[in-house]
Amino acid sequence: MPCLSPPAIQRLHTNKALLTALLPTCKNMDSARNELRWIREHVWSSTLAPQFQGISEANGNDEKSKNALLNRLCRLRGRGYPLQYILGTQPFGQLEIKCRPGVLIPRPETEAWTTHLADIVRKTWRANKTKKENDIIANLRILDLCTGSGCIALLLCSLLSRKFPNMHVQGLDIEPRAVSLAKENLAYNIERGLLRQQNANAVSFKGANIFSTDWLAPILKQADLIDNRRFKQSALERGTVDILVSNPPYISQEGFDRDTERSVRDHEPRLALVPELPAGISSYGTVLPEDMFYARILNVAKVLQPRFVVFEVGSLAQAIRVVQMARGRYREAEEAEIWRDWPDMKPREDEPESVDVAGMTVPVRGSGNGRAVFLR
Ligand SMILES: C[S@@+](CC[C@H](N)C(=O)[O-])C[C@H]1O[C@@H](n2cnc3c(N)ncnc32)[C@H](O)[C@@H]1O
Repeated sequence: MPCLSPPAIQRLHTNKALLTALLPTCKNMDSARNELRWIREHVWSSTLAPQFQGISEANGNDEKSKNALLNRLCRLRGRGYPLQYILGTQPFGQLEIKCRPGVLIPRPETEAWTTHLADIVRKTWRANKTKKENDIIANLRILDLCTGSGCIALLLCSLLSRKFPNMHVQGLDIEPRAVSLAKENLAYNIERGLLRQQNANAVSFKGANIFSTDWLAPILKQADLIDNRRFKQSALERGTVDILVSNPPYISQEGFDRDTERSVRDHEPRLALVPELPAGISSYGTVLPEDMFYARILNVAKVLQPRFVVFEVGSLAQAIRVVQMARGRYREAEEAEIWRDWPDMKPREDEPESVDVAGMTVPVRGSGNGRAVFLR
């Protein structure tokens, strides 16, 4: 039997200790091994997440300091600290989205509905025959409310900008750390060749509280709508934006305390998950607190008249409430669909393909939990 050298024995002991530290979060050995490999590669790479750069510099760059940092990160991860905040990025479609404390980590379900939406947009305007449709091809306008890391805005840009060369996506968020990370994500993905250089002008990010009105005025003004009824009528025919998307905070306070994982509860921003009423307002009519953002954004949609609206939601029950709300607040005759987590997958036998919402049959696409509402 071959004999292990003392350094190899030492490495085995260290690995065992690191895997043990990771296990409370990773649940099984395979995933602990994978995470250990990723964290190790990350510690030895030159692109350490910014919140750990200070620690690494203070401790030096030699092998011993790197091992000390690896140890510290594995313990942090074992206590539930999100892997994406340690590694600093999360893949999202073909993009790499930088992740940082204070900004929500993009989820695969969000990526799935964003990609599904891009397919629908491409198909809808494939046969761009009318003048109005040619106009849209030349100048597709997308508004992403509650943009966070900018993941939805950037993925839509990457999936659609070849077909819509003059498109523009605007992402808005109340959290300054999100706005600055979203801007960084645009630059980072261009730098890595994952977005094209031309996309630099196709996406913009700005700070805004969607419950205020000051961000709406410039959007309306851009479309020459303010104080000009003639323009107002013709522009409203098309809509001031073509597509309105939003993944807003949508979890109730009780749901946050009861159902979210510890790593989410303890480390991701509460502001991104649980709707907060604007100062001075104690309720939003009869709307449930967790549905408040949908009510507000539907009111905005009524003004902007987009061709498509997509909201991320937390469950089928919430999706049904949003469809119902849309009928009252937005458009009476809109067509609605509900998308599950994986909208392109075949539903399982126990997943109904439609639901009844106040006498209207609403198709439910895909498989998984209710995840998005699509209005057109
Ligand atoms: C669920 S996160 C979505 C982030 C990102 N779009 C995504 O899909 O990963 C919700 C976002 O809404 C932002 N937000 C919360 N309240 C807001 C408000 N009143 N106005 C604008 N943005 C708000 C939060 O900062 C957070 O980035």
